[in-house]
Amino acid sequence: MESQPPLEVDRVVKKYSQGAATIAALNGISLVVDPGEFVAIMGASGSGKSTLLHAIAGLIDVDGGRVLIAGQDLSELSDVPLTKFRQRNLGIVFQAFNLIPCLSAEDNLRLPATNGPDLDRQVDVLLERLGMTGRRNHKPAALSGGEQQRIAIARALICNPAILLADEPTGSLDSISGTQICRLLRDLVDEQQRSVVVVTHEPHVAMWADRIVVLKDGTNLAEFPTDGRRDPQSVANQYQSLLGAEVVA
Ligand SMILES: Nc1ncnc2c1ncn2[C@@H]1O[C@H](COP(=O)(O)OP(=O)(O)OP(=O)(O)O)[C@@H](O)[C@H]1O
Ligand SMILES: [Mg+2]
Repeated sequence: MESQPPLEVDRVVKKYSQGAATIAALNGISLVVDPGEFVAIMGASGSGKSTLLHAIAGLIDVDGGRVLIAGQDLSELSDVPLTKFRQRNLGIVFQAFNLIPCLSAEDNLRLPATNGPDLDRQVDVLLERLGMTGRRNHKPAALSGGEQQRIAIARALICNPAILLADEPTGSLDSISGTQICRLLRDLVDEQQRSVVVVTHEPHVAMWADRIVVLKDGTNLAEFPTDGRRDPQSVANQYQSLLGAEVVA
């Protein structure tokens, strides 16, 4: 049997009512992500990036089209099976970090995981990789925005999901910490063949991806490969020229 891609988004539509009007936040978006592929989603504010991630995560019902994770159509799962399916298959980092205030950094990270022989070691490895070993006992209120973001990323990875979804994962990090996160995401893809989908406005984040998908008004405007050159200027130029061409057209 032909193997299914980890993620397939097929002509997805999501509508919202805004007062008397109905807007299509997603208007027929399609996307296939392979194992060991890192995709960056770019697009202007309001183009549908976060809505797309929420649809992929099964956090919102879609009004048309399908989201398939490892061949499973999410709309066929009711609430409880969907939650379990999501826990097994997806790691999610939201634009807001959603850490639990009364738990330490380490306990936030452990929250989605079940205790097992490898968990302690895995917690140590993730904290070390994210430069958070010394902050593991702090509660979120005692962590900087960037530190909270790193714990949110570690928490998304603790169950070893095949797919990691992240919305602006480096948004509140300085450039050194941001690069550290991007390298970690890249390693997950290269060393463990996971699939990573990251929403970002920043060319120096998008340059770590294999492919950049650009959204416009809830549709696929265009996409281009990065050629692995990690050249933020080249990404910025290609992105700008796409949006520029769109404006002219
Ligand atoms: N819950 C909601 N109710 C009504 N409209 C919504 C809702 N969520 C999103 N929208 C609308 O859908 C469109 C897409 O929103 P979305 O949050 O996906 O944009 P985005 O590309 O992530 O933007 P940003 O870069 O600012 O985060 C916007 O017009 C937004 O106002
Ligand atoms: Mg958003």
